[in-house]
Amino acid sequence: MIIKFSEKPNYQNVIIFVNKAGDILVSNTWKDKNKKTVSFLKDFISSAKFGKSKELLHHIFAQDLTEILLVAIDNTPKQLSFLKIGGKLGKTVLKCKFKDVALVFPDQNSRDKRLANNLQSILEGLLLGCYEYNAFQTDKSQARVFKTLIINCKKNKTLGQQVDNAKIMAESANVSRDCSNKPGNHFLPVDFKKVCQQVAKETSLKFEALSENQMKKLNMNCLLGVSQGSENPAYLNIMSYQTKNKKAQTLMLVGKGITFDSGGISLKPSLGMGEMKHDMSGGAAVLGAMRIIGLMKPDVNVIGLIPAVENLPDGKAFRPGDVLTASNGKTVEIGSTDAEGRLILCDALAYGIKRFKPDAVVDIATLTGACVVALGSYNIGMIPNNPDITARLKAAGSQTEEYVWEMPANDEYEELIKSKIADLNNIGGRWGGMITAGIFLRHFVGKTPWAHLDIAGVSNDVKHIDFQPDHGATGSGARLLAQLALNWTSK
Ligand code: BES
Ligand code: ZN
Ligand code: ZN
Repeated sequence: MIIKFSEKPNYQNVIIFVNKAGDILVSNTWKDKNKKTVSFLKDFISSAKFGKSKELLHHIFAQDLTEILLVAIDNTPKQLSFLKIGGKLGKTVLKCKFKDVALVFPDQNSRDKRLANNLQSILEGLLLGCYEYNAFQTDKSQARVFKTLIINCKKNKTLGQQVDNAKIMAESANVSRDCSNKPGNHFLPVDFKKVCQQVAKETSLKFEALSENQMKKLNMNCLLGVSQGSENPAYLNIMSYQTKNKKAQTLMLVGKGITFDSGGISLKPSLGMGEMKHDMSGGAAVLGAMRIIGLMKPDVNVIGLIPAVENLPDGKAFRPGDVLTASNGKTVEIGSTDAEGRLILCDALAYGIKRFKPDAVVDIATLTGACVVALGSYNIGMIPNNPDITARLKAAGSQTEEYVWEMPANDEYEELIKSKIADLNNIGGRWGGMITAGIFLRHFVGKTPWAHLDIAGVSNDVKHIDFQPDHGATGSGARLLAQLALNWTSK
């Protein structure tokens, strides 16, 4: 998507904001050059039809056939943020099949500064809202046509900055969405590695990937156990960003990258199994966040770890009842091969903490169906071990509208993941499944400040959020984790 500034006042397709008083928020030049459209708009705004309507968006044609998306900015219920307004605009622009559209801006000395102050959110929402995934549809006549957004005003530094930030944030979340939407046969662990490598190259991050042989030497047997039933070798992707500040702290992000989760020998029911192509969305969130971090350069070092593994059953697959030894020496009895996410994460967490000695760690994963039952699609479940990281994640989540909800994790739950023959069991029974999964991971982080985020409910097929697609991946977590890093100031 191209976003550019232009003061030219004539466009075929325009977005115009109108406030409570019925004033259109456009420049005097635009008014002068579009007198007929202005009087048409005045008539429309004073009509009973518009007055009674509680709609945010009106798609109207002026006499000269200019197509106008009129945004009744004060008609929105209180909770409709600029991100959501942008999202609605993005969806509408696609529906209208606009190739280009101009966002008409008021003069800089206008009293209503809402457009100027919230341009980043509006554009971020717009770019997120007009996302479509149609890589596998051969009939391109239905494909998206929207190419250029014109900001109809003089460019200045703060507006330019907002445009750049919006593009980085939204396009990176769209990279996460693209990965997550790819079918399992088109996105093997090696493909995940290639994308990480590519993004690292484009954003000047360091990149390395551990092979299965290297992971064997490091005793990452839980991760390798999951990969055992697949013909496609696993990788542990490591992306790192270093600030210029020598005293900066280090944040480590770890994302579950199961490229397809069949459940393994504890095979999942066939209905809906295809959804498990999205089981790498935690990894995709870390990738998207690292892209933002590489481009926006926060004041904290960030390590992104993405274990990319496929969970399939074959003659070599790991079995229920097996005992695996993790890289930190803890033994794990396998209660279910379908609780595989925690197995790849526990090795990545223990390895990353030992090697990079981070000041704080966040892992993110489509980890449990129990989280979906508990919170549905509108909150990320969180199990933390530290109040500071908890507060930071909640704050970042309110900023990016990816809300985080803390779940309890008192020691009583520990009993549920005890094994009679090993240190831990990888399942904790039917009840409190999101909590026991988080508590399992807590055994691998020691005293490092940490939080586990379960995105199983928010990662795909989320309805009724204006900046999210109607189906498929949401890219949730990318903007949240990046915002966490951007808010970080290393003392
Ligand atoms: N990938 C699934 C969790 C999941 C479920 C994500 C639904 C998105 C939607 C995970 O690997 C899994 O299968 N978890 C099991 C754990 C159980 C065996 C303890 C689950 O939630 O049923
Ligand atoms: Zn599973
Ligand atoms: Zn899974």
